[in-house]
Amino acid sequence: MVDPRFPVNDRRRVLEQYATGDGLAARQAIYRHRVGPAVDLVGTAGDLLADHTADAPSSPAVADIGCGNGRYTESLRERFPAAEVTAVDLSPGILADLDGPKVVADAQDLPFADESLDAVLAMHMLYHVPDVDRALREFSRVLRPDGVLLASTIGTDHLEEIWELFSAAAGTEVRFADAENHPFNSANAADVLGASFPHVESVPMNGVLAVPDPEPVLAYLATARSFTAFSEAEFGEILLGVERALKDHFRVEETLRVRTSAEMYRCCL
Ligand SMILES: C[S@@+](CC[C@H](N)C(=O)[O-])C[C@H]1O[C@@H](n2cnc3c(N)ncnc32)[C@H](O)[C@@H]1O
Repeated sequence: MVDPRFPVNDRRRVLEQYATGDGLAARQAIYRHRVGPAVDLVGTAGDLLADHTADAPSSPAVADIGCGNGRYTESLRERFPAAEVTAVDLSPGILADLDGPKVVADAQDLPFADESLDAVLAMHMLYHVPDVDRALREFSRVLRPDGVLLASTIGTDHLEEIWELFSAAAGTEVRFADAENHPFNSANAADVLGASFPHVESVPMNGVLAVPDPEPVLAYLATARSFTAFSEAEFGEILLGVERALKDHFRVEETLRVRTSAEMYRCCL
């Protein structure tokens, strides 16, 4: 029996997954199919930062840790042109495509001086860090006493309908955000953050997708292989099973309804 767990903080798998931005971009593409009330994580981070820095220096120093393909970095640079926003990521490959100040670094060992930053972002990345508490201690070390950490993560039921299809095809239950394999999710994140940051406020960011055809689901799942213990052949078989199930679904339905679940946190010292 294959162990279906997704060790999402395994360093080798993280580096393999983010060697380039391709997998991340394929996963982000599924969110183009949002319906109903807007869920704007990037805009919300900017709003929270604007609230927090209203009385702060006119050119705040911000680090976007685990910036990936830079959607927060670029949005903040555009919205706050006077801010110095440094893009930080473990992966040199993913940083290569980004302009502006950037540095390859591990969240657990940051190349910033004590109390040198006004804001740290850690968006959808802390679940990849082997020692989350150590990263949080680093964030509090580099932040000024009145600085802010903005962090986000997914809920345990994020994209549940897609993982149900995957589990049915795999013949075993597979959950991306399974608490055991996903050390930082919305079920525990406030407590984990609270151990290092006395003031934690959370903003739920839940939504719905109406996916119009199988392709975005298959593209999304295809990127997850490096976080499974399935062999390439086993994973390929499972995806074929998902494809068959999706074809059956779209024979009778126009869209596949999928719930999204995330939480953003504003954390102060
Ligand atoms: C899911 S992506 C999130 C990207 C971006 N923050 C966003 O929300 O669009 C996770 C990113 O964190 C980076 N990462 C993973 N572990 C890291 C670590 N220990 N230190 C710094 N970056 C890390 C990965 O390379 C990847 O680019």
